[in-house]
Amino acid sequence: HTSVYKYYSDGAWNVSSSGKSVPIINPTTRKTQYKVQACTQQEVNKVMESSKVAQKLWAKTPLWKRAEMLHKAAAILKENKAPIAECLVKEIAKPVKDAVTEVVRSGDLVSYTGEEGVRILGEGKFLTSDSFPGNERSKYCLVSKVPLGVVLAIPPFNYPVNLAVSKIAPALIAGNSLVLKPPTQGAVAALHMVHCFHLAGFPKGLISCITGKGSEIGDFLTMHPGVNCISFTGGDTGIAISKKAGMVPLQMELGGKDACIVLEDADLDLVAANIIKGGFSYSGQRCTAVKVVLVMDSVADTLVEKVNAKVSKLTVGPPEENFDITPVVSESSANFIEGLVMDAKQKGATFCQEYKRDGNLIWPLLLDNVKPEMRIAWEEPFGPVLPVIRINTVEQGIHHCNASNFGLQGCVFTRDINKAILIGDAMETGTVQINSAPARGPDHFPFQGLKDSGIGSQGVTNSILMMTKIKSTVINLP
Ligand code: G3P
Repeated sequence: HTSVYKYYSDGAWNVSSSGKSVPIINPTTRKTQYKVQACTQQEVNKVMESSKVAQKLWAKTPLWKRAEMLHKAAAILKENKAPIAECLVKEIAKPVKDAVTEVVRSGDLVSYTGEEGVRILGEGKFLTSDSFPGNERSKYCLVSKVPLGVVLAIPPFNYPVNLAVSKIAPALIAGNSLVLKPPTQGAVAALHMVHCFHLAGFPKGLISCITGKGSEIGDFLTMHPGVNCISFTGGDTGIAISKKAGMVPLQMELGGKDACIVLEDADLDLVAANIIKGGFSYSGQRCTAVKVVLVMDSVADTLVEKVNAKVSKLTVGPPEENFDITPVVSESSANFIEGLVMDAKQKGATFCQEYKRDGNLIWPLLLDNVKPEMRIAWEEPFGPVLPVIRINTVEQGIHHCNASNFGLQGCVFTRDINKAILIGDAMETGTVQINSAPARGPDHFPFQGLKDSGIGSQGVTNSILMMTKIKSTVINLP
């Protein structure tokens, strides 16, 4: 018997009137680990109501007090890193060490957002009319930033805690209320995290956490007239949301196919280390994972050999024991990854390791001599399989990178900084890393994607700004 975790609304833990629950399947055992409430549309309506009421009062709460509460929540979150990490291990098979890191990083992000918020929201702008032709100095304009209202946060399974707080904290410091719809895998970790905010004493209704089936409440939430802003991280669902959402600001991060361009003069040991970290950490289930290596043919043999030596050292097993490679999130995900691998095999890719799978556990695999006609050259496996495409010119590499539908991050390895900058400028991605694998953090750096990778920019500062609106007050002198 597994008890059903309650959802959070009006400052309390509640049972849904649906009488139904959603099972959370442990990726390792493939058995039901937890259950959460299957909330109804009526319950969404109620949450939106109380969220709106709570926001009005919160907007009047002094900025320093809002920051103080965030610092408190951050401390409680860090104190509870062990039980929250345990949920991440069971729900999304994140290696326990990385799960703990996710929670600590989240606490730091919440504190940083409190700090940043008091600075950037605590100052505005002052303009005078006489700089525009035809005007006397008769109008003074005071510009400040005001909250949007109710922010809807939808994080993905791969960072159910971190990518939730990266939306919650900016929303709250800016004076918004927040409705969280956690991913099903990761919902219990998210509920624990929300409990930390509850313990910090935020007013009731300010934060809500609604669980349930996307088919039941997904569109209902994203198209709800009570929502004033949507911050979403995930897959193509984001494209559908952006088409259906009303006239509200959207912040979207929808994945990537981050390229790693390797020049002849690169430090190949550094490249190999970064390919391992970038391509295989959390079994490749990161939007910013290295998802295609584009290496100059003259150094490709050496690089592939160095990467293979490191792949053979990656340990494979359950997340509880800190293995490097752990089961991918679901059976359908494992099947999708296998589909990409089989397509590459059929079209003649070189398998550097034997393809091996047991349930949702897929052994790390480097695929050499991948060609553009293979699906894996373009699609995002979200698993521990990495294609290598050999190139004869740097232009070929840039061309492949820019022909992608995605444009999140990319990286270039060379000892020639001038070349690195020119290549980086030519790559159509939101961020280019020089001599390191792509990564979102440190979390105050701007984080954004082009094309199907998303809209808007994240990172602490940009998220705070995105969740506010400019308000002008003009003083008209006699
Ligand atoms: O997949 C989520 C994306 O935001 C990656 O974050 O910290 O793993 O680079 P990070």
